[in-house]
Amino acid sequence: MNIVLVGMQWGDEGKGKVIDILSQKVDYIVRYQGGNNAGHTVVVGDKEYIFHLIPSGILHAGKICCIGNGVVIDPEVLLRELDDLRNNGIDFARRFKISTLAHLIMPYHKNLDQLREGKRKNKIGTTGRGIGPCYADKINRCGIRMIDLANPAVFRDKLKDNLKEKNEIFKKVYQHPGFNFEKVYRQYLDYGKLFAPYMSNTAVLLNEAVDKKMDVLLEGAQGTFLDIDFGTYPFVTSSSATSGGACIGTGISPVKIDKVVGVCKAYTTRVGEGPFPTEYASGFGNFMRDKGKEFGATTGRPRRCGWFDALMARESVMLNGISELAIMKMDILDGLDKVKVCIAYKYKGKTIKEFPHDLEVLSKAVPVYKEMPGWPTQDNKPSSFKGLHPNARAYLLELESRLKAKITMVSIGSAREDTLFI
Ligand code: IMP
Repeated sequence: MNIVLVGMQWGDEGKGKVIDILSQKVDYIVRYQGGNNAGHTVVVGDKEYIFHLIPSGILHAGKICCIGNGVVIDPEVLLRELDDLRNNGIDFARRFKISTLAHLIMPYHKNLDQLREGKRKNKIGTTGRGIGPCYADKINRCGIRMIDLANPAVFRDKLKDNLKEKNEIFKKVYQHPGFNFEKVYRQYLDYGKLFAPYMSNTAVLLNEAVDKKMDVLLEGAQGTFLDIDFGTYPFVTSSSATSGGACIGTGISPVKIDKVVGVCKAYTTRVGEGPFPTEYASGFGNFMRDKGKEFGATTGRPRRCGWFDALMARESVMLNGISELAIMKMDILDGLDKVKVCIAYKYKGKTIKEFPHDLEVLSKAVPVYKEMPGWPTQDNKPSSFKGLHPNARAYLLELESRLKAKITMVSIGSAREDTLFI
């Protein structure tokens, strides 16, 4: 069975926990887009691992983990993650693969991301990791790929061409001294040597696995509304976070995908700028942020919090072809008098039932809520869906009927055992 796992909101839905659970059941785990703008923390015993690039499935012995061609790789970050695994005695030598087609984040991408963001009147609130400029070079056909590091002559030509143009831009537009060719060239050739044992034609590897009926998990980073096409553009990331991106980012054909699982929080969060119709008023927002520990795993930035937006989530079900839902952080809603689900928007006297594409409409839209009674915090955590307070169950059933997909997993805490399977 080949499963794609996607975030249904603006990222940070808790995909890491679902990936950890599903990883145990599959043979291969692949990241298909994004870069080290994503991040999740996995705790094993008293050791905490933070992953930005390597699938966390690497912690499960015997699982083969790949960074697909759709991912952009900051070599420094990847080396740190590999060192961390090595220092903790995790044997990954024959289980970790990097697509030779994956593009590299270069030092100039990171600076450009930050300088451009600094100059922008309407800021996007990027993570400053060079993601946008790296994908832009990929599309512009001047990107540098993993395989280029294995061929010094090719790499030299590409880097020379790039620096000739980019250093002019750095100097003239940003009053930045630019980058020294030799330094970058040597540094990246060294990275190439360190990554050589893991470089692989992952499309072939994965298709062979699929042909042998092995199970593959394709993990998306970010979320549907950060997708470059379907997200709240321009407040999005620069890759295809939706399920379609899984095929482009791995080389597994759409006809070989068996199922798409959507992950969403029982409420909504967003990091960075951009419209967010159901955002809580600031007092309640701060309360819920602290309660849900809503601070970014990558940048530590506080996340904006709000009510569950069923319009968004339903659109996400449609765009991704989601048949199963994992609802995360349900316990954070415990103890509230009432809970709300956004079921429509009002704009200029009209009721809108589809997620609007016009950013002005989205910014000014007033949510129409269905209010439901809240539920108390239970003394003992339930161990099944039936054990949830009836009002919590009613809330979940409301989501299920509005989203028209089946809830198969509900998370009620950060531990693996705080998960209800339906
Ligand atoms: P970039 O991906 O660094 O270019 O940032 C673009 C937008 O996507 C910003 O609003 C970021 O906060 C957001 N973003 C990128 N990655 C993540 C993520 O993993 N979780 C949540 N937001 C993200």
